[in-house]
Amino acid sequence: MRVLSGIQPTGTIHWGNYFGAIRQYIALQDNEQAFYFIANLHALTSVRDAAKLRQYTFDIALDLLALGLDPNKATLFVQSDVPEVSELCWILLTGTPMGLLERCVAYKDKIAKGLSADAGLFTYPVLQAADILAYDSDTVPVGADQVQHIEVCRDIAGSFNHTFGNTFVMPKAYVLETAARVPGTDGEKMSKSYNNTLAVFEDAKVQRKQIMRIVTDSRPMDQAKEPGGDVLYDLYSLVASDADREAMATTYRRGNFGYGEIKKALADAAEKFWTEPRARRAELAAKPDEVRQILAAGAEKARKKAAEVLRRAQDACGIH
Ligand code: ADP
Ligand code: TRP
Repeated sequence: MRVLSGIQPTGTIHWGNYFGAIRQYIALQDNEQAFYFIANLHALTSVRDAAKLRQYTFDIALDLLALGLDPNKATLFVQSDVPEVSELCWILLTGTPMGLLERCVAYKDKIAKGLSADAGLFTYPVLQAADILAYDSDTVPVGADQVQHIEVCRDIAGSFNHTFGNTFVMPKAYVLETAARVPGTDGEKMSKSYNNTLAVFEDAKVQRKQIMRIVTDSRPMDQAKEPGGDVLYDLYSLVASDADREAMATTYRRGNFGYGEIKKALADAAEKFWTEPRARRAELAAKPDEVRQILAAGAEKARKKAAEVLRRAQDACGIH
């Protein structure tokens, strides 16, 4: 399989991003040919501050490497370092029906809220299609929210292939496990838009305080409780060992416990779980040139492939 996915540098990564997406991307690097990129051109549709966008872009590279992305296995690069993709995007735009993009949720939601959208947001899925097609990707691991974009990509590729002859590889979405829907500190889905996140690389003391503030129900201490669906238990399950998780489930079912002690156990388990990636990240942050070199090498490899596919598309439609 030729795997590709993009991550937007729009802020600090949280547990939802890691357990819902990043961990699964990293797992694929062992057996598949994997391309992962930092989608800074897409992020420009929402991050309108140069210093922030630059910082987020570099930070995500640090995050991914610290969490185990191995540049000797997967190819890691920044989207804008491969200008061929933007060129391919124009070619694809010329064959994309307005109606196809009008149905896309990010744009539709914004309009429904009475907000004005720009052409970047409207054509966002076409740039995403270019990202995917430029590397002959056949498998695109994404969260369920992105499946529509992969369908748009398939529509665009299919129609180009139909008009100009077989040019693009038809990609498939590889939908990431939805069971890993990570709850936030208020029990809703963890999301930076809801202000309920636990950041992966948070200082351990700060994270402990955030955990101690998690909202719980007013169940009396002696009462038993079904663990699944409880925000503390669900978060604990992500960072605890199997044996500890089982023991915690038993505690819930037995009753006679307070949420204070569970929060403490969660904070301890979280601290232990993130210690190593945090140390690795600090090490990498001290060697920014090494990280830039990894990104440059990744971009070089990606450009080679993208140039080949762009040339194929140009030949097919008469640009060359
Ligand atoms: P946010 O909602 O914080 O803006 P993003 O939309 O940038 O997060 O998330 C990028 C990817 O991370 C999503 O496509 C999804 O796969 C994963 N993800 C985000 N939040 C969660 C969550 N709470 N549970 C599981 N996966 C999540
Ligand atoms: N739109 C994706 C997201 O918000 C990021 C992305 C950009 C992407 N280009 C891509 C994902 C290509 C997969 C393939 O998460």
